[in-house]
Amino acid sequence: MPSEKIYIFDTTLRDGEQVPGCKLNTKEKIELALKLEELGVDIIEAGFPISSPGDFESVRQIAEVIKNATVCGLTRAVQKDIEVAAEALKHAARPRIHTGIGSSDIHIKHKFNTTREDILQRAEKATKLARNFVDDVEFFAEDAGRADLSFLAKLVETVISAGATVVNIPDTTGYCLPHQYGEKIAYLKNNVPNIDKAILSCHCHNDLGLSTANSIAGAIAGARQIECTINGIGERAGNTSLEEVVMIIKQHQQDLNLYTDIKTQMLNPISQLVSDIMRMPVQPNKAVVGSNAFAHSSGIHQDGFLKESTTYEIMTPEEVGAAGSKIVLTARSGRSALAHRFQKLGYEFNRNDIDVLYEQFLKVADKKKEVMDADLQLLAKSYQPDSVAL
Ligand code: KIV
Ligand code: ZN
Repeated sequence: MPSEKIYIFDTTLRDGEQVPGCKLNTKEKIELALKLEELGVDIIEAGFPISSPGDFESVRQIAEVIKNATVCGLTRAVQKDIEVAAEALKHAARPRIHTGIGSSDIHIKHKFNTTREDILQRAEKATKLARNFVDDVEFFAEDAGRADLSFLAKLVETVISAGATVVNIPDTTGYCLPHQYGEKIAYLKNNVPNIDKAILSCHCHNDLGLSTANSIAGAIAGARQIECTINGIGERAGNTSLEEVVMIIKQHQQDLNLYTDIKTQMLNPISQLVSDIMRMPVQPNKAVVGSNAFAHSSGIHQDGFLKESTTYEIMTPEEVGAAGSKIVLTARSGRSALAHRFQKLGYEFNRNDIDVLYEQFLKVADKKKEVMDADLQLLAKSYQPDSVAL
């Protein structure tokens, strides 16, 4: 049994919902929050309560219905934000306030027009205030991916002393390389004197397609919470995909010595639900939940897969709740895939028949993107020698 748990912090309803066109109403948010709880996520970031009356109401109602997961509300390091979040979360079984401020010099200078010293003071004040309302306070050091390391360490130490239980190290702009992000987490683990009093969290954006790799690098270096969204939706190029980090941790559990409590059989159904309610299609080649994730179309792969599925699949569709593996017939497919499909359609052809039918199949395939069952029925019906309908 792998020994250490990675807490899954889902921010589909907050960072995910910030995507233009993905806005949900309160009823839809509650439906999704209940599914996320059933999926086994540890923390649901339900929204940003001060941002609008609608978001306040969604966080409030989610806090009332969720019984097992922690319900979290986002705030800036601003008194009013924290008070409003505390009000929205007051009926939660496990409330968490997620407060924070910019930590890179770019943010400190251009967003806040202030000094590092002032940032430390605001961070400390906000964390202490949040702790007056709830026992579980997460602090985010925005743009930590580009922050000065020794300043970041000081900030982390300050907020832990002020009562933060979790410290989020966001790569807000998706800038870091995996080894850099991992080294950042390792540096904080080794250089912040009170680090044993808090959990470090990875919050990685996908601007360079590295959010999943960076989150895993952070976990390898000692972070114990990963912030992610279903289908990787989120600002710009998105956030870390929940389904990807969960399946990486499952596939490599011996190497990583880590586990999550996610029910992986729910990954495809929940991906579909999010795609439907947010009207945001999932790219076909998306890992784990894309429609092609278990589709085999080249002859070499199909032949191997039909002999033994593990030749070309490292996980089963059942394990992640996908409909099943698919053999897609195209001009790149081989004889074994064709024979297999004819058999499924009820035709038994011998090797010689398949050789002849394969030549006819290729002519059709060269004209079409995919050869469908109806095309094969026509080929089979017009073919005479030795064919026997079962
Ligand atoms: O990307 C980010 O830095 C965030 C914070 C608000 C946590 O989403
Ligand atoms: Zn974010």
